[in-house]
Amino acid sequence: MHLDSKSARTSSRLGSSAGPPPIVGAERPEATGQLAAPTGATRSTCGIPAEELLTEVPEHLLARSRARRAALGLGGDTTEGAKPTPAAAPAETGGEVASTPAATAAAKPSTATSAAPQKEPEPLPPYVEAAIRRKKIPYWAMPVVAFLPIWGVLYAQTLTKAPSKEPSQLEAGAALYSGKPACAGCHGATGGGGTGRKLAECEVVKTFPFIEQQLEFVKLGSKQGQPYGDPNREGGQRPGGYNGSLMPGFKSLTDKELLEVVRHERETIGGEKIEPKRLGPNGELLWPNGKPMLDASGKLVDGDGKPLFTPEGTLANANATEAAGGSKAQCG
Ligand code: HEC
Repeated sequence: MHLDSKSARTSSRLGSSAGPPPIVGAERPEATGQLAAPTGATRSTCGIPAEELLTEVPEHLLARSRARRAALGLGGDTTEGAKPTPAAAPAETGGEVASTPAATAAAKPSTATSAAPQKEPEPLPPYVEAAIRRKKIPYWAMPVVAFLPIWGVLYAQTLTKAPSKEPSQLEAGAALYSGKPACAGCHGATGGGGTGRKLAECEVVKTFPFIEQQLEFVKLGSKQGQPYGDPNREGGQRPGGYNGSLMPGFKSLTDKELLEVVRHERETIGGEKIEPKRLGPNGELLWPNGKPMLDASGKLVDGDGKPLFTPEGTLANANATEAAGGSKAQCG
């Protein structure tokens, strides 16, 4: 039953496709739309009905006919009696060849304006031509293009970092301590002592409660049997000479370097507590009266702006801290 109905459907479909072709022509005028009829189509000729004499004209011939008529200014069958447009006039003199634009225009039967020959396409501006000719970004480059904003952010972040900020006094001092003057070689990297005395745990600050005296000591070094530092130091004043070793003088250091390395020993290693008001905008140490310790030429000066050292390298003002309103240094 089921098979039967299926086969019946199949055979009926086959039958319809294998049957006679659909009739075209006079019986189906809508198939072509255009029929050439002689004038007086209803009149019979030689007894044959006029309808049977009708001949189907191919569409392309009709289109060419319309085009030619339009070119000659006679008007197409849909634009019967239309006056030749001025645009069509050149086609008349141009003859055969010039009718081409008109033909395309007339191929779509419509108003008289569409029969006018199309204007020559305007030449493209050079920048448009260049844009068309230019190579486009290939697809494989897209990940690169997509990454560009991320790269931009990363790049901007590298720019926000201060590029070439001068190291602070303490940073420079740390570099000097473990660098060329090689203080660390005798005093230990963290000031624990060695050939030289222990500096850490406030030891150095106890020896020199006033910074100017340590500045002079590092500049000149120690002498055997010549006491140095605070006479009232706990454990007694330093006698001069430590296990048979002396502290070499460092006259080669500039005033700026001297201050930097001494600050490192006192503050970073020794743990001296510095009041915030004694620090300048770049972290540089000021006298207790707020005056700079280095003048414009980088020379050490006291709180009154006078040279801290004599030309011989001894203190010109042995009381500079107290003279500027300060007191003995304390450790935190
Ligand atoms: C060759 C080894 C040596 C080097 C290098 C050295 N020192 Fe000394 N330092 C000593 C000795 C030894 C003493 C003890 C001197 C004495 O008692 O006479 C000393 C003592 C000191 C003291 C006094 C410590 C105290 O509490 O008595 C200071 C401050 C000091 N040195 C700073 C420095 C600085 C700053 C540098 C580097 C610029 C430096 N030293 C490099 C050997 C050295």
